[in-house]
Amino acid sequence: METELYIGLMSGTSLDGSDCVLVEFAGQKSKLLHQLTDDYPEQLRHRLQDLIDARGHIRLEDIGSLHEQIAITYATVVGKVLAAAQVGTDRITAIGSHGQTVCHSPDSTPPFSLQLGNPSTLATLTGIVTVGDFRSADIALGGQGAPLVPAFHEWMFASPTAARVVINIGGIANITVLRPGQAVTGFDVGPGNTLMDGWASRNRGMPYDDNGTWAASGKVNAELLALLRADPYFGRMPPKSTGREHFHLDWLDGLIAQLDRAAEPEDVQATLAELTAIELGRAIESVAPEATTVGVCGGGALNQHLMSRLQQALPGRIVESTNAWGLAPEWVEATAFAWLARQRLLGQPGAIPSVTGASRAAVLGGVYVPVSDPI
Ligand SMILES: Nc1ncnc2c1ncn2[C@@H]1O[C@H](COP(=O)(O)OP(=O)(O)O)[C@@H](O)[C@H]1O
Ligand SMILES: [Mg+2]
Repeated sequence: METELYIGLMSGTSLDGSDCVLVEFAGQKSKLLHQLTDDYPEQLRHRLQDLIDARGHIRLEDIGSLHEQIAITYATVVGKVLAAAQVGTDRITAIGSHGQTVCHSPDSTPPFSLQLGNPSTLATLTGIVTVGDFRSADIALGGQGAPLVPAFHEWMFASPTAARVVINIGGIANITVLRPGQAVTGFDVGPGNTLMDGWASRNRGMPYDDNGTWAASGKVNAELLALLRADPYFGRMPPKSTGREHFHLDWLDGLIAQLDRAAEPEDVQATLAELTAIELGRAIESVAPEATTVGVCGGGALNQHLMSRLQQALPGRIVESTNAWGLAPEWVEATAFAWLARQRLLGQPGAIPSVTGASRAAVLGGVYVPVSDPI
């Protein structure tokens, strides 16, 4: 069978950098050939963080230059993966590049979701056709433009006989419900790692709470947990999606300020882990009571403490890393964007209306062809 190579590039709300995968597709099968995470250069990460948190003065020049800087960073990562895999650019059909979300606002008027990382620049720097701007078409059709990974989850993980749930814990956590013979459903449940990362960074100077060790040293603060869970987002009916615009440290600070007694930092961290686990558990209990196995992907699957809280929140179900389902958790999302690029070139939909709420299934993304010098 004919095989095709694609590259997938994903930078999520965690702002940790970019995940890049080289994937071989053959019909209904895929094989991960190479993978790499490249952290954003420190300065780029700070500029992005400032832009997203709207700290200081946002200048249009900053947005424009970050759009290019990120594309240049991506081109470097792609080069590293191809060199390591010893594969020439001419063998790659296309890159699927999600870009870096700086504002996701599907419920505003008009709705939008803005990603940086100019796909045209990336195409030209790499010499590879690049598919980018994946969210706009779904939003134009009235959808949330998110989550976009469920179609790939279905393709990759669906079982013909049993209902399954996929949990993706990136900066934000989302679920996909796969039932044999039924339309896929799914939505953003709420914060995944983003608040834990922010709190760990502010209090301990670490980018994330490795393995959840710090959270595990604290005690859940029931009063704070109740305040966090009272946020209206959790009670909203799907379709719904969210981001750092809603769940950020100022939001957390506002609720901590309402506590009767000051909370210890490690107890806040324990409570944030609990929030992620409990809200995922509640969402799955309500929308997929029959699913006995739950596969977890995203960086959160590497957090042992979070995984054990999640198992507690889903009694009687098997909660396992997607490793057990054939794809390591940290590469699922980047592989999804390689697959979405392939869907685009095949003219096949990448979004699922029962997930995003769009009026129909959109073919996602724009195709950017490398600009070559005139001869
Ligand atoms: N060993 C680990 N222990 C705890 N958390 C981890 C570990 N590895 C990754 N993570 C978490 O996963 C996040 C990155 O997950 P990722 O799926 O890349 O999210 P995003 O798609 O939002 O970038 C990190 O910011 C961190 O919170
Ligand atoms: Mg990431």
